[in-house]
Amino acid sequence: MSNHPNGTRILKVSPKRPSTKAILAAANVIQHGGLVAFPTETVYGLGADALSPKAVRKIFEAKGRPADDPLIVHISDAAQLQELAKDIPKHALKLMKEFWPGPLTLIFEKSDQVPDIVTAGLNSVAIRMPSHKIANALIARADTPIAAPSANLFGSPSPTTAQHVISDLHDKIDMIIDGGEANIGVESTVLDVRKSPPTLLRPGGLPIEALRSCLGTIDVHPSVYGDRLSAADVAISPGMKYRHYAPRSPVYLIEDSTDMIRGKIQETVDRLRKDGKRVAVVVPVDFSYSADEVMVVGRDPTHIARNLFAILRQLDRKVDAIVIEGIGAGGLGLAIMNRLRRAATVDV
Ligand code: TXA
Ligand code: MG
Repeated sequence: MSNHPNGTRILKVSPKRPSTKAILAAANVIQHGGLVAFPTETVYGLGADALSPKAVRKIFEAKGRPADDPLIVHISDAAQLQELAKDIPKHALKLMKEFWPGPLTLIFEKSDQVPDIVTAGLNSVAIRMPSHKIANALIARADTPIAAPSANLFGSPSPTTAQHVISDLHDKIDMIIDGGEANIGVESTVLDVRKSPPTLLRPGGLPIEALRSCLGTIDVHPSVYGDRLSAADVAISPGMKYRHYAPRSPVYLIEDSTDMIRGKIQETVDRLRKDGKRVAVVVPVDFSYSADEVMVVGRDPTHIARNLFAILRQLDRKVDAIVIEGIGAGGLGLAIMNRLRRAATVDV
């Protein structure tokens, strides 16, 4: 798409006390079929009026996103769900009561109100109620559900700051609300609640442990662990077939729960450097690795999640390859490992 004719307006807005004037300006853009990037508690979203196919089409164009990858519809009030979903099962109500607003997206059977372009022709719809004050106020003021994928170019890591959005989408969208850093740093958890027990399609900001303590059993889709997908699996959630969250520099994910991992990491770095590549390592603890860049991230999954995409973007500018040590799958670890497996192009 060519440059946006009127340029992109950037509004700085307090995430704690969003100014009404700014929110009204952004809501006005949405109501006129435009695109607004805005912060949520997970990552920045690129929003358009979910009920306007023309507006939603612009999202796909700006991102370069394939039309078969459905969008999440964001609401600010549970009452909006009635017009978007056909059937709201009991276990979904329980989850909504406990976890909405928050980083949990639920998949329902879709109503006829939801345009096909939003759901990529599927008969299901993904719905989430964000807890971020700016997101919530924007949806409420726009007075319409807002379809919003992550506000990055297709295939690049999700944006956790307005600066990331600017570097991907400047001049391609109408407005960017700069509300500071997204707090969680990985996208929402996506759960298909059409059947009981529900199925986890994408691990994210709400850990599976929390879902289990609310409902008991949760099925886990094979893609969550990075397995190869069958055609039937792809049909359930088309977005999963794409290589995501990928920086341009190849990512090498090293997993080994023993001390052998240190040697494996250094060997991988050495091999790549011998090929003339500049190499970064991202590790919980530095064991005096010799590399062009060593990024120590500790072992706290909450901290790693918050910084993960920013680190990938930053290293991508500096080096030719990124070697990352895997972490445990507890808490946000499952989401982190899922993103890393999908970013990693090469098995070691
Ligand atoms: O945290 C988030 O979820 C962020 C913020 C902006 O809310 N949004 C986000 O959207 O990550 P996106 O488009 O980058 O990822 C949406 C995921 C995709 O993997 C897509 O395939 C899946 O949700 N999805 C959307 N609608 C679906 C549906 N009807 N059935 C199955 N999967 C669906
Ligand atoms: Mg995305």
